Amino acid sequence: MSGIIGYIGDTSAVRVILDGLRRLEYRGYDSAGLATVCDGELFVCRQVGTLDQLDEQIRAQAVPGSAGIGHIRWATHGVPAHENTHPHTDAGDRIAVVHNGIVENYAALKKKLSSRGVRFRSETDSEIIAQLIGFYLKRGAETLEHAVHCALMDLKGNYAIAVLDKHNPEKLLAARSGSPMMVGIGEREMFVTSDAPAIIPYTRRVIFLDDYQVAVVGRSGAVITNLSGNVVDRQESVIDWDVTEAQKEGYPYFMLKEIHEQPRMIKKILLLKLDFKRLHLKLEELQAIKQKLSAAHQIIIQACGSSYHAGLIGREIFEYFSGIHTDVEVSSEFRYRDLTAGTDCLVLSISQSGESGDTLAAVRRAKQKGMSTLSLCNVVGSSISRESDSVLYLQAGPEIGVASTKSFTAQLFNLYLIAIFLGMMKRIIKRELKDSLIKELTFIPSLLKKVLGEEPLIEAIAHKYAGYRDIFCVGRGINYPCALEGAHKLREIAGEHASAYPAGELKHGPIALVDETVACVCIAPKSQTYDKMVSTMQKIRARNGRVIAIAGEGDEEIGKYADDVIFVPVVQEIFSPLVVSVALQLFAYHFAVKRGREIDRPKHLAKSVMVE
Ligand code: F6R
Repeated sequence: MSGIIGYIGDTSAVRVILDGLRRLEYRGYDSAGLATVCDGELFVCRQVGTLDQLDEQIRAQAVPGSAGIGHIRWATHGVPAHENTHPHTDAGDRIAVVHNGIVENYAALKKKLSSRGVRFRSETDSEIIAQLIGFYLKRGAETLEHAVHCALMDLKGNYAIAVLDKHNPEKLLAARSGSPMMVGIGEREMFVTSDAPAIIPYTRRVIFLDDYQVAVVGRSGAVITNLSGNVVDRQESVIDWDVTEAQKEGYPYFMLKEIHEQPRMIKKILLLKLDFKRLHLKLEELQAIKQKLSAAHQIIIQACGSSYHAGLIGREIFEYFSGIHTDVEVSSEFRYRDLTAGTDCLVLSISQSGESGDTLAAVRRAKQKGMSTLSLCNVVGSSISRESDSVLYLQAGPEIGVASTKSFTAQLFNLYLIAIFLGMMKRIIKRELKDSLIKELTFIPSLLKKVLGEEPLIEAIAHKYAGYRDIFCVGRGINYPCALEGAHKLREIAGEHASAYPAGELKHGPIALVDETVACVCIAPKSQTYDKMVSTMQKIRARNGRVIAIAGEGDEEIGKYADDVIFVPVVQEIFSPLVVSVALQLFAYHFAVKRGREIDRPKHLAKSVMVE
């Protein structure tokens, strides 16, 4: 889960590479390095610690060259140490390689090369790639490309790599299998990167590589081949993200910035997906697969983490609006299950990054079983979006904070749009109802603004409870998954124990843990189970637990049963997750700030998890 950038052009490679690495800093890293080539020499700089330290080292050394590769590392094999930092070189110091992913068979390959006299210098799995390329070149591979193809054919696991060769200063090579990699096309300059934000200031024109493809990149273009060396035709795509979207714009953390972006983001989604005059949904992606959708008698939503929680809310929404039976599965389980559903089942995969390894594997499995696959992704051109039969993009813009916030809300919003579309298609929703539902959705941006306006109060409440031993989040019906997501955010960002329960389950066990050291966030907007929720709150208070209620504005009674109340705008119960989730995001954020946590780089977590 590292980041890669490569550059070849007319300007100083180190400046572009360092700038790109800074844009990937949010991924969290423990070391960084780069390599350039100039006058037949390879220059390699590696540094454990911050990018500023790497910058200092580069200034001291005055690293030349207008072609190079860089890497920020989040250690998987081998501790953060100088020798384990990328780029890795081959034994002859001819080749430099940066790698993202895991080479599963590196131990066997290392043994093989060691027995032939190759000396290894790191504990990483990545070094084997540089050593293999060097080995094949020494053994007589005719070209760098040929040596890279041979090396890649030896690997098991996943990789995105960029390769630099001091004997071929006019080109960079990049390849992928299971980890993202794209080529950026500029004006007499070209880039390779694992993540679009690294190159957005320079170009938005990209070619996404597919698995087992190799890009040979020169100053004015790239040729893409497969591992047999045959040229493959790849379409160019345009990334429509704004440079400012990948900057903090005065906020202390990306997470807070992204929470505040949500009203604007929903407005943008509405503009793109709605004909305001006719209150008509413009979901061309779904129109194109209308036949498959109308044949679907069952939907399985599969996703991980926060996206899974969005899926649980999606089930309620789909069944409510379209009447289609919907199941929700965690991808890592779904991918290994005996699938009994038939070909009339639509598998909807939800993923912000579009790269979660388990979700991708489950898409492949569903396709093998003949099921239709639709994905809801944020990152354009990501693996899941490309491998699914069809894709609906979230249009949330780049999400940099490790914790999902705006992408979660965008997932929910898109799920409402899909469900209303399905409801119309299945003739469950009549035109008048569709018009009133859509009107209600157009109010969401201003309602989210209102929730954000409550931030000072939410901050005060979060600070008040930041010292508690344990936080419970409880909800019912469509707000139970909101409770799951609220607890998930607290665990991720605050690094504290938090658990979520359906309110009705509390009395079947978890209530045994409630005492004055436990604070319970009780999600209680007006709903068909409101009275039951109030009764749960009373049970918690009877055991000295503290109650923080999230309730609808104007609910004057709720204060009697809660220690503190966060009021959110009143909406139909089915839409309540939109307002409730934003309040919970602010609560988790301020709770974590009070705890002194590294908000954008939570411990042990990475933004996209491609490995199993
Ligand atoms: C939560 C979070 C993770 C992701 C999960 C799935 O804040 O960031 O739980 O939701 O790893 O990631 P995607 O949606 O990219 O598949």
